[in-house]
Amino acid sequence: MLNVLVCVSGGGTNLQALIDAGKDGRIRNARIAGVISNNRSAYALERARQNGIDAVCISPKDFPDRAAFNRAFLEKVKEYAPDLIVLAGFLVNIPPEMIRAYPNRIINIHPSLIPSFCGTGYYGLKVHEAVLARGVKVTGATVHFVDEGTDTGPILLQKSVEVLPADTPKSLQQRVMEEAEWILLPRAVDLIAAGRVSVVDGKTVISGRNE
Ligand code: GAR
Repeated sequence: MLNVLVCVSGGGTNLQALIDAGKDGRIRNARIAGVISNNRSAYALERARQNGIDAVCISPKDFPDRAAFNRAFLEKVKEYAPDLIVLAGFLVNIPPEMIRAYPNRIINIHPSLIPSFCGTGYYGLKVHEAVLARGVKVTGATVHFVDEGTDTGPILLQKSVEVLPADTPKSLQQRVMEEAEWILLPRAVDLIAAGRVSVVDGKTVISGRNE
């Protein structure tokens, strides 16, 4: 059974997708051991508690500096003994010590087709604003492993979503979530729990995949 820790900052719809997929069998052999938020008012914490999942907040505001926060955050992560850490809308830079402690065991969901519209400054609604400003016709979402860069780690899954002429950043965000994020993230966890994912030469290999 894969022990999964989910890190969140906001509404937690991707966390909800993981919870639902665990219940209906789309994720097998994994359990969510805990949820950590950097934001005390994140609705994701409420979602976790409603589902009987241990949930805590560790806020940078409660520490004198970033280094102290990073240490406390890593200590809390270790308490859950995770096999896999899922960043599900977690808007905090992961400290390098944590990446070294969990190599190829941290995944992130990003709301664009990496390498487009990613990196520093591209998060949440800002991604969709940039997509519309550039006028691209296709966007999507990406699940990738986390390395020391921003959105630079090995890509695990991607799914495209059409941009429609009437889209606003909010309508596009919602459709990218529904058509891509909430499907990809549970699938990624299920594949990892099944032991089907490896990273070779900086790229992911999914075994037993014919599509
Ligand atoms: C999601 O769209 C996720 O892809 C994005 O934040 C949102 C969180 O929503 N993450 C990033 O932009 C990371 N760079 P949620 O709290 O409802 O899951």
